Amino acid sequence: MTRRTVIIVVLVCLALGAVIFAQAATVRLPGNDQGYSPVQPIAYSHRLHAGELEVPCLYCHSGAEKSRHAGVPSASVCMNCHRFVTATQAQVQEEEAAARRAGRDPRPVFSPEIRKLYDALGLGTDGKRDPSKSQRAIRWTRVHHVPDFVSFDHRRHIAAGVECQSCHGDVQTMERVSQSSDLSMGWCLSCHRDSNARAKADRDPHRASTDCVVCHQ
Ligand code: HEC
Ligand code: HEC
Ligand code: HEC
Ligand code: HEC
Ligand code: HEC
Repeated sequence: MTRRTVIIVVLVCLALGAVIFAQAATVRLPGNDQGYSPVQPIAYSHRLHAGELEVPCLYCHSGAEKSRHAGVPSASVCMNCHRFVTATQAQVQEEEAAARRAGRDPRPVFSPEIRKLYDALGLGTDGKRDPSKSQRAIRWTRVHHVPDFVSFDHRRHIAAGVECQSCHGDVQTMERVSQSSDLSMGWCLSCHRDSNARAKADRDPHRASTDCVVCHQ
């Protein structure tokens, strides 16, 4: 058998295995998670941060340029701002108005969602390490996922100028992240074919391969 035939046989076995496994264990079937939008442990909003505040995607997902995975930022990245910002402007203004009405000084305001961030870092509301709290990573629920037998790498796509939004939709408008594409093989291939047609028309030598081995190594 040629190398390619071997790979195809292995893939078909994998696919059958995956179907049997999925029926046995009711795991998420690959490719049918379009629209998946799990509730996250902190109500972090891309609409606010990436949209309104215009924080660049790569400020928090710098891995996308350098590695296979885009990565999710650690809580210390959030603290670059949240060391100073402990509530929304609306919440601060509300407290100021209440203080004015009561003729007292405004109290510091701590939003419950930002308190969760401080809790994860084991910090008190004064921003100092609180020995009674233990540090623990924020357990964000993963949204996008391709099966292990697919090799996907962010780096190649980012270097080729493919925008995050082409694959993830308008994340900067999402209050909560939702999977916008179905991440199926057909989806990968149709963009690779379209990109190649465009590159050919532009006499650009770059090609997005449609060979099985490129995505299934
Ligand atoms: C201030 C930091 C920050 C910025 C800026 C940011 N993100 Fe995120 N991103 C996060 C965090 C935290 C998560 C994990 C929680 C969640 O899913 O909302 C995340 C999750 C994601 C996910 C889902 C990951 C998964 O589990 O599949 C995608 C896709 C994503 N971001 C894309 C983007 C894009 C595109 C931009 C720019 C338009 C962007 N992000 C800007 C912090 C950021
Ligand atoms: C570039 C600065 C910056 C970074 C980085 C940043 N934030 Fe924010 N965040 C803000 C600002 C400013 C606000 C308040 C906006 C307003 O006034 O409505 C805010 C608001 C929030 C809120 C809303 C609070 C509420 O009660 O509604 C949450 C939750 C939050 N941020 C979580 C995070 C998390 C988690 C990270 C890291 C993944 C992060 N932020 C990174 C600037 C930042
Ligand atoms: C060509 C399509 C494509 C582009 C462009 C793309 N992504 Fe992704 N992204 C994916 C796929 C597919 C996955 C699932 C990967 C996996 O399971 O290994 C993913 C996963 C993610 C994840 C969660 C898992 C991880 O890899 O860390 C984040 C966060 C993310 N992307 C952010 C971004 C950001 C930010 C950009 C732009 C800088 C971007 N992506 C550009 C297709 C893309
Ligand atoms: C929105 C368009 C788009 C989508 C969707 C997309 N790709 Fe790509 N992909 C490209 C482009 C453009 C290139 C060519 C990059 C270059 O010129 O180096 C590429 C290159 C690649 C390469 C490197 C090819 C090589 O010759 O080494 C791999 C592997 C790859 N993509 C896998 C995937 C997988 C797996 C998916 C689906 C989960 C996917 N891509 C979805 C646009 C896309
Ligand atoms: C551009 C990337 C890419 C190329 C090229 C590609 N595949 Fe796939 N393939 C995928 C992705 C992504 C999945 C996972 C789909 C899912 O989760 O629904 C997949 C899944 C599969 C599966 C599992 C069954 C299924 O449909 O989910 C088989 C079998 C398969 N591919 C065979 C092949 C063969 C044979 C070729 C060459 C003719 C090939 N693939 C080329 C990306 C690719």
